[in-house]
Amino acid sequence: MEKSRIDLPIGITLDRFIKSNQSQYPHAAGALSQLLRDLALASKVVNREINKAGLIDIMGYVGQMNSAGDNQQKLDLLANTRFTRALSKGGEAGGIASEETDSFVDLHNGGKYIVTIDPLDGSSNIDVNVSVGTIFSIYKKQSPLDEPLVEQDFLQKGRLQIAAGYILYGSSTMFVYSTGNGVNGFTYESTLGEYVLSHPDIQFGESCSYFSMNEALCLDIMDQEVLNFISFCKEERITARYIGSLVADFHRNLLKGGVFLYPRTQKYPNGKLRLLFESNALAFLAEQAGGLAISNERPILDIQPTSIHETAEFYVGT
Ligand code: AHG
Ligand code: MN
Ligand code: MN
Repeated sequence: MEKSRIDLPIGITLDRFIKSNQSQYPHAAGALSQLLRDLALASKVVNREINKAGLIDIMGYVGQMNSAGDNQQKLDLLANTRFTRALSKGGEAGGIASEETDSFVDLHNGGKYIVTIDPLDGSSNIDVNVSVGTIFSIYKKQSPLDEPLVEQDFLQKGRLQIAAGYILYGSSTMFVYSTGNGVNGFTYESTLGEYVLSHPDIQFGESCSYFSMNEALCLDIMDQEVLNFISFCKEERITARYIGSLVADFHRNLLKGGVFLYPRTQKYPNGKLRLLFESNALAFLAEQAGGLAISNERPILDIQPTSIHETAEFYVGT
């Protein structure tokens, strides 16, 4: 279907952009707009916490693990609290599933959307002042609005996302999202306290300038095709770049052209990255930006999830 072109004036604030395009996006009625604004607001608070992470006692581990077996960091939990609080106060999200909690949270407010979120992505990079992120997906609640949420409400194919995006807390902070009509990037202007449109209608470049993967995994990779692809990248002298924060790696590849790989390995036979909290959102953005996201030789957006913390191998990019 032909995309309806929208007016994308550089410098417009995220708030105004959401409001002015509300009618042009298929699903962006008032409630979804408010939900996006709630996420943006929480991200500003998280951004502030991250910026002062070295000065106050919010770095390091809390001494417990999340469902995926990751050691939780103080900032993982802090970011989770900020986003959960903003979404529950906003009243548009009926429920949240987060990488940091075992089960979903029902906000019991009749909200027609649900949110899945990786509140802090790349948290092992915090202590060393390297970019981290937040990844989110928004779906419509499938069960009747007057009934409690059920796990099935969260087990939706990525294809059914109404909107998805990420926040990159990097050398500048960016809010990048799509409601299914292209991808737009907003840079945080801290003196204004606003996200401002800086990267309208982002498209993957045609050429692949980078490949990104944890090469230490090579001996444990289970698929010969993946090893062949890595050899091909090297033969073609494609530059290797791996930060270890998925959001940052994805963002670089999106802007500059590149491919990110997290294959199946001996340690992670289903891949490491989480379908609901990480891969689906980025896959949605990738397809919107003219790229591809594959798992098990098919679009990752077509996978029917069977559990909230499910992982999948993930190949995404140009
Ligand atoms: P999180 O901090 O949310 O647990 O995510 C970490 C993820 C992802 O950001 C990154 O791409 C990947 O883990 C790195 O994994 P390796 O350390 O195995 O390379
Ligand atoms: Mn993550
Ligand atoms: Mn995380």
